[in-house]
Amino acid sequence: MNIYQRIVQDHDKHRELASRIMKTEGNSDERNELWAQFKPEATAHANAEEQTLYAELLEAQKSQEQARHSVHEHKEAVDLIKELDEMDMSSSGWIQKFEKLKEDLEHHMKEEEEDVFEIAKKVISNDLANDLVDKFEKRKKSEISEIA
Ligand SMILES: [Fe+2]
Ligand SMILES: [Fe+2]
Repeated sequence: MNIYQRIVQDHDKHRELASRIMKTEGNSDERNELWAQFKPEATAHANAEEQTLYAELLEAQKSQEQARHSVHEHKEAVDLIKELDEMDMSSSGWIQKFEKLKEDLEHHMKEEEEDVFEIAKKVISNDLANDLVDKFEKRKKSEISEIA
């Protein structure tokens, strides 16, 4: 497995969790449980990406601009996650805001899979793309333990 495949694994999980959250209602157990999974997952994923893939892409001139763009989108998503976390889940505004986060993230993940990976493959060797998986895993685990 390489870092690209590993990231797509997470993306598929995030897309599924987000679709399931959209079907929940109010301050239900289901919404609470799914959000309790989604929040640390999405946040730790973004941070682990920044500490692995984007750390490499920021180093190379060819990929710097795209990397900065992605990191900026991470900040926006993390801000939305924090806002949602402080909001009353039973208010109608919660799911509206969540839908905005879902759409933003879907756009972001598609861009990573279609544009970022293509640029990364020109900048990162195959060996490094393999080695980054382990690093990603470790960073993500420690991020999750900090959030939880
Ligand atoms: Fe990302
Ligand atoms: Fe991602």
